[in-house]
Amino acid sequence: MGGNTLSAPDFKTCLQELPKVELHNHLEGGAMFPDLALKFAQRNGLTLPFTDQETASAYYQFDSLDQFIDILRTTVSTLNTAEDYADAVERHGIEAKRQNIRYHETFVTYGLVASRGVPWEAVVEGLAEGKRRNRDQHGVETAFIVDLDRTLPEDMALEHVKLAVSARSTVDIVGMGLDCQESGWPAGRLKSCFQLAKSEGFRLTAHAGEDGGAESIWDALNNCGVERIDHGVQAVEDEELLKLLADREILLTVCPVSNLRLCVFPSMRAHSLPKLVEAEIPVCLNSDDPPMFNSDLVNEAEVVYETFEFSQQQIVGFLRNAIEHSFQRTDHKSALLSEFDQIRDKYFD
Ligand code: ADE
Ligand code: ZN
Repeated sequence: MGGNTLSAPDFKTCLQELPKVELHNHLEGGAMFPDLALKFAQRNGLTLPFTDQETASAYYQFDSLDQFIDILRTTVSTLNTAEDYADAVERHGIEAKRQNIRYHETFVTYGLVASRGVPWEAVVEGLAEGKRRNRDQHGVETAFIVDLDRTLPEDMALEHVKLAVSARSTVDIVGMGLDCQESGWPAGRLKSCFQLAKSEGFRLTAHAGEDGGAESIWDALNNCGVERIDHGVQAVEDEELLKLLADREILLTVCPVSNLRLCVFPSMRAHSLPKLVEAEIPVCLNSDDPPMFNSDLVNEAEVVYETFEFSQQQIVGFLRNAIEHSFQRTDHKSALLSEFDQIRDKYFD
């Protein structure tokens, strides 16, 4: 790849046109567009603390990860039936198609709805229907990663792993992860869940180093054996960890706008992304819960390009990393990589 630089409009077109993959977007928070959340609320006879886009924007203001998760739990209480789940998955597909995201791995956190008595069977039925609509109507391939709510008791979390195993043949569950509150909830507490998931052949990832420190990333790597880290932005505290992540080529699924909105960093300029890249750790860009943070994957790429000194080729490289480190079949990955490279080479000589 040569060193030419595109004009701003051409780079925007290039970012749009590249066939993309997103690896860090939550089914529940990622579907909480005000119109859809309000539709779910009405269907289920519930009310929300907002009534339209404007009041939702005022409600979607956060000062920490923990406070965000509280708001997430309230908003996601509208998600109850197979129909709700199918519509939520389909909204992800529509948003993916709009950005030319061809394949996405979507986190599903049953812990967000289980305590309200939403049956797992309804979740699975909705995921299967949404996935079918995305493939048939929107040309988008949807895979799922079942995330364990870090705050669950171990026995309940183990149940969630077993439920994920039971649904594998019905929906494309490619992996298992960990999310929700981080500080005060060590990943190693759920080591047995990761052992079981691994023995069942699931690929492994975990949210770590978002608002927890570098020790939280060590915990996920050493006790849970994860292959990727979701966020991981606090790794910069620890030189030895940076080296290990680079040597083992462990991908960090970084979500810059989310980190800013949850006050993980005081400004985008203060984000650790340039240091992670300098340490030669593979990173990709992601939107986490786009409607709650007013972002999407293409916006993440544009914000990162505008904020830091990365070259356009580096930004394109971050998008390529997502394809390379995805949990999809090798032949699908190779086909998408060669299509990606062909389009990239049209823009960069
Ligand atoms: N669930 C949804 N978004 C999350 C985030 N950013 N961190 C942890 N859990 C989440
Ligand atoms: Zn996340």
